[in-house]
Amino acid sequence: MGVIITGTGHYVPERVLTNYDLEKMVDTSDEWITTRTGIKERRIASENESTSTLATKAARRALDSAGISPEEIDLILVATATPDMLFPSVSCLVQDQLGAVNAAAFDIEAACTGFIYALTIAQQFIITDFYSKILVIGAETLSKITDYTDRNTCVLFGDGAGAVVLEKGEEGKGILTADLGADGTGGKLLRLPAGGSLHPASIKTVEKRMHYTKMDGKEVFKFAARNMASSAIKSLNKVNMNVKDIDYLIPHQANIRIIENAAKRLHLEKEKIYVNIDKYGNMSSASIPVALDEAVKGHFIKKDDTIVLVGFGGGLTWGSIVIKW
Ligand code: ACO
Repeated sequence: MGVIITGTGHYVPERVLTNYDLEKMVDTSDEWITTRTGIKERRIASENESTSTLATKAARRALDSAGISPEEIDLILVATATPDMLFPSVSCLVQDQLGAVNAAAFDIEAACTGFIYALTIAQQFIITDFYSKILVIGAETLSKITDYTDRNTCVLFGDGAGAVVLEKGEEGKGILTADLGADGTGGKLLRLPAGGSLHPASIKTVEKRMHYTKMDGKEVFKFAARNMASSAIKSLNKVNMNVKDIDYLIPHQANIRIIENAAKRLHLEKEKIYVNIDKYGNMSSASIPVALDEAVKGHFIKKDDTIVLVGFGGGLTWGSIVIKW
């Protein structure tokens, strides 16, 4: 039995924050941001929007494209690092907003690799015949944990959500394999220090700006380029394939230079890589499913193509998935 993607969808908030807007907020320039990151603009959630509302809109679009109703879903998995609150989970909020009354629901936290982790978990539930229809969502409102006085981070992140429907399919089609990895020794390189059990919210944590993302950009950069390439090769090798078999690569969109560096290590042509970082910046676990939906709807991906999804993120974590479309 194969595990195939039968529907995709995405949603991004309406508000656009351009590099020129950021020039008025911190000491930066469109030129610096464009050349160092490839980002021109990003989407920002309104005060009334949260991760679950973006996730629900993306999910509705994925369900519509799969042609199934919310009641048919067995499980909702949401990958996010920016849940509406610590509990209930975003997936339970989405279950309620969709009216997916027959679905179990839980969240996955693997930062920007979250969607890859979630898709791999969902695949196991279908292979083992435990469930037959699963909604997998990557959704973030990173703007809510971004310090707009810190030029090192605030130019990078944006908000959005992407979703897919997974179902049983033909043998040899769909998700062929995956590679998942983690290195907790690098956890300090990318973190949100307060708001959890170690540093619960207090006047002190707010005064010290500990509720915002902290990052060692240079170290994350080196780790990212190295691991994106090696993970893609590892998962391809698991199914006796190599880089020459890739028809299309959908990488996590964190920095165009990281994507180009990984492509160089893989000896993969630019034309085979989907890039939308200029429009959205880094949307963490939403980046890959949003890019996947755009690539499918834009007809960049064709039937029988070999697709590789590859990502990295906080934790540190990384992962890749090989799909026969
Ligand atoms: N505008 C202008 N100057 C800036 C800005 C800015 N927005 N940000 C930093 N600078 C300055 C720095 O202060 C530094 O100045 P200095 O030399 O006087 O100290 C100079 O530019 C160069 O800084 P670098 O850090 O060397 O710049 P670099 O080329 O490495 O780019 C960047 C920085 C874009 C952050 C890069 O390191 C990167 O993309 N790293 C990976 C980040 C990432 O992917 N994070 C997300 C991971 S996924 C997840 O889980 C969320």
